[in-house]
Amino acid sequence: MVNIAVLGYGTVGSGVVEVIDKNSDSVAKRVGDEINIKYVLDLREFPGDRVESVLVHDFDTILNDPEVVIVVEVMGGVEPAYTFVKKSLLAGKSVCTSNKELVAAHGPELIAIAKEKSVNFLFEASVGGAIPVIRPINSSLTADRILEIKGILNGTTNYILTQMAEEGWEFDRALKSAQEMGYAERNPEADIEGYDATRKIAILSSLAFGKNVDYEKVYTEGISRITANDIRFVRKMGGAIKLLASSTCEDGKYYAMVAPFIVDKTQPLYAVSGVYNAVFVKGSQIGDIMFYGSGAGKLPTACAVVSDIVDAAKHPNKHIYVFWEPEELPLTGIGNATRSFFVRVSGKRADDEGKIRDEFGHVSFIELEDITDEFAFVTPPLTEEAFDEKIKKVPKVLGRIRLDRKMEEEN
Ligand code: HSE
Repeated sequence: MVNIAVLGYGTVGSGVVEVIDKNSDSVAKRVGDEINIKYVLDLREFPGDRVESVLVHDFDTILNDPEVVIVVEVMGGVEPAYTFVKKSLLAGKSVCTSNKELVAAHGPELIAIAKEKSVNFLFEASVGGAIPVIRPINSSLTADRILEIKGILNGTTNYILTQMAEEGWEFDRALKSAQEMGYAERNPEADIEGYDATRKIAILSSLAFGKNVDYEKVYTEGISRITANDIRFVRKMGGAIKLLASSTCEDGKYYAMVAPFIVDKTQPLYAVSGVYNAVFVKGSQIGDIMFYGSGAGKLPTACAVVSDIVDAAKHPNKHIYVFWEPEELPLTGIGNATRSFFVRVSGKRADDEGKIRDEFGHVSFIELEDITDEFAFVTPPLTEEAFDEKIKKVPKVLGRIRLDRKMEEEN
């Protein structure tokens, strides 16, 4: 019997208990032993619930019980999760977590402690919900050099953008719907301002490139300024707006960013809608590999956590090597990145067309029949820095969105 303790009986924690209960036979076959939930830690009481008899309120009960060999941290947030996880690893217990805030902030240190203690610190559920992406990067795509990671890593914002496109809603209405559906987290800011996706791309990039990507240094923009009109103009171009997280290695330099991009309808990412996530990993020899699936939600995320429990249970006293050194990977700013931009402007095209062409050269204009007081245009490729300078000279700009590479070729 493999005894585990679950820290936190919230959405993911109760999902972990449910998955282990429901799939106990198949999980036991995969492990070669039975998984026993010996403790669940939570401050609250759950009278009548399945966990009532194993509920504890003091973490030390778990820490001091040598029978507990795997601690499952699904509390979220950096503290007290960090303290509990570190103490568990130092006590020689493996830890499985869904907590991207913890992994992005303390990943290399916790991995190093796990290595020293010959146990495991596993975090498949921290990125992409149910999608296996951490383990493939760490264990499967090991023959090739990874050059680029690009994807939709936040289910809530993808749901909001999908609703805005399908229903014609403004951002606030779509956010409210996401909250009603239980997708948006306690604080929607982390999702809508891109911080959640930033932590996730920092985790994936650290694993792909082997050094620590400081998530606080990743250029980040969210989706809160996207409007229903942006989406209408972009649709006319044949595109969709997606919050993309990406990191690239080019000529020995590393770039990482999270921002809304316009993607073309021939691209697989165009069709990724609702709370689904998708991630492309590009290698020098393997080309593009795509991972796709439920990026959020109780049971999908819980399944990823349980897959880590299975892995940890299969490797008692054996550390699975994780290539994520504590040394910081220096990121190059995005100022010299070259791309096209979509710009939405208040007023009439005829009044500003000359000025816009003087600044940007050959641009394509987009107009909608029923919106006569706004128009949009798409610039030729230019650097971010050059765009920022030139756009200052265009009056009444309402917003700008970057074009993904394929979309650029179409315009
Ligand atoms: N808030 C996250 C998302 C949950 O919407 O993707 C999964 O990490």
